[in-house]
Amino acid sequence: PRQVQIIPSVLPADWANMGQCVKELEEAGVDRIQFDVMDGNFVPNLTFGPEMIAACRNYCDVPFETQLMVSNYNSDTMLEEYVNATKGLNGEPGVVIVHVEACTHLHRSLSKIRDMGGSPSVALNPHTPAELVLNVLDLVDHVLVMTVNPGFGGQAYIPTMLDKITQLRSAIVERGLDVDIEVDGGIKADQTIMECAAAGANCFIAGSGMFAYPTLKEGCDALRAKALE
Ligand code: DX5
Repeated sequence: PRQVQIIPSVLPADWANMGQCVKELEEAGVDRIQFDVMDGNFVPNLTFGPEMIAACRNYCDVPFETQLMVSNYNSDTMLEEYVNATKGLNGEPGVVIVHVEACTHLHRSLSKIRDMGGSPSVALNPHTPAELVLNVLDLVDHVLVMTVNPGFGGQAYIPTMLDKITQLRSAIVERGLDVDIEVDGGIKADQTIMECAAAGANCFIAGSGMFAYPTLKEGCDALRAKALE
């Protein structure tokens, strides 16, 4: 079975103390930290750019993950900025996720991320069929199945995404590939994470589902325990 990974989203964090937050997330035992980059165009919300991610780098030694909810990937400069900001303390590849719906040349963008020293991954919005990423599964390390419509935390989980998770896991296995499936949106330490794990997901992104606990460690432990149940 694939290793379960618990990945908090920093969206609910205290942005005025983001460095302290990622330090606390590291101490809570998370596997990776997700930065939700939103441009106010691809999604109706605006968050931060590469400087916020780079500013957090020296506060912890946990791998970073950047989800690019932005409309224009055609500029290699933009991609390079995010790949570099997301790298580890010693330049290890960081996970850079592009949305299939925003990529005119998805195969090219994913190949570019790998060439620049990043770990390329692709995300699908709830309405997007799995078929749209089958031809790039050989290029990515992760496929992110959104279980909410992206843009905000605290939304309700969409249970009809389970079939897409199952379909992607079968396609990955059929091709003999080593690709993680991530889920993101409304994931809690309850039936949501359990059914996604059973369907084939192994990386779980949580914002409110993690920050709702008295301590981040309790949140991380609760999510991990349920995913393994
Ligand atoms: C949604 C973001 C998610 C969000 C998850 O647009 O991409 O990562 O922060 O938040 P919750 O876990 O509260 O649904």
